[in-house]
Amino acid sequence: MYARIIGTGRYLPEKVLTNADLEKMVDTNDQWIRERTGIAQRHVAAEGQTTCDLAENAARQAMEMAEVSPDEIDLLLVGTTTPDVVFPSTACLLQHRLGLGECGAFDVNAACSGFIYALSVADQYIRNGNAGKVLVVGAETLTRMIDWNDRATCVLFGDGAGAAVLTADSEPGIMSTHIHANGGYSDLLKVDVGVSRGFRAEERGGLAVSMRGNEVFKVAVNTLGRIVDETLAANQLEKEDLDWLIPHQANLRIIKATARKLRMSMDQVVVTVDQHGNTSAASVPMALDVAVRSGRIQRGDKLLLEAFGGGFTWGAALIAY
Ligand code: UT7
Repeated sequence: MYARIIGTGRYLPEKVLTNADLEKMVDTNDQWIRERTGIAQRHVAAEGQTTCDLAENAARQAMEMAEVSPDEIDLLLVGTTTPDVVFPSTACLLQHRLGLGECGAFDVNAACSGFIYALSVADQYIRNGNAGKVLVVGAETLTRMIDWNDRATCVLFGDGAGAAVLTADSEPGIMSTHIHANGGYSDLLKVDVGVSRGFRAEERGGLAVSMRGNEVFKVAVNTLGRIVDETLAANQLEKEDLDWLIPHQANLRIIKATARKLRMSMDQVVVTVDQHGNTSAASVPMALDVAVRSGRIQRGDKLLLEAFGGGFTWGAALIAY
């Protein structure tokens, strides 16, 4: 039994913040942002608009494409690091919003790798015969925890949501998923406040993403190189067998480095980072949806999805679409 993707969806909040807008807020410029990151703009959730709101829009689109009704979903997973509230989980809030009945529902916090992590959980449930249809969402409102005075981070992140519906099928499907983490790197990319340590944000530099960008960059490039090798080897595939790379959209230079490693032309790489910056767990499912809806990805194509993020966490999925 395989897990096959039968529907995808995405949602970006209306408000757009361009590089020119940021030039008025911090000491930065459009040329630096484009050259170092590939980002031209990012979307920002409206006041009162939450991660669950974004997720709902993406999920409804994915369910519509999949032609599944709410009562058919057996499991709901939400990859997010920016939940609406501490609890209930965003998955529980979303389950109720979508009227999914009483299916299992939980969040997966693996920062930017959240969707790949959630996809790997969905894959196990379907392969084991414990679920027939699973809704997997990656949704974030990262701009809620950005220090808008810190030019090193505020230019990078944005809000958004992506979703996929998986069904059990005798044809592949997801061929394999691979997830890893190394908590030894927790200091390089973090938000240092929380429930158990206390929300005394002012003592910890505010409720804000802090990142040693240059160090993260180097580990990300190396680690993504290793995970693509691991994924190909597990499926006895060569680099040339891949049709599409659907990478985490954090930085165009990291994406290009992974494509070079795979000897793939940039024509085979789905790039959306210019449009919305780093949306953490939402980035891979949004890029997947863009490629599916534009007709670039065809049934039977072999896709490599990969992500890397805070933790550090990283992961990949090989899919025969
Ligand atoms: O999604 C989770 C994983 N996250 C990532 O993968 C992000 C990984 N890191 C990166 O993408 C890059 O490291 C950044 C885009 C964050 C930074 O690019 P970089 O090429 O590594 O730049 P840098 O941090 O080495 O900084 C170079 C210079 C510095 O100035 P000096 O010291 O050379 O004078 C920075 O102060 O650029 C300066 N700088 C800026 N200048 C204009 C840093 N941020 C900005 C800015 N505008 N926004």
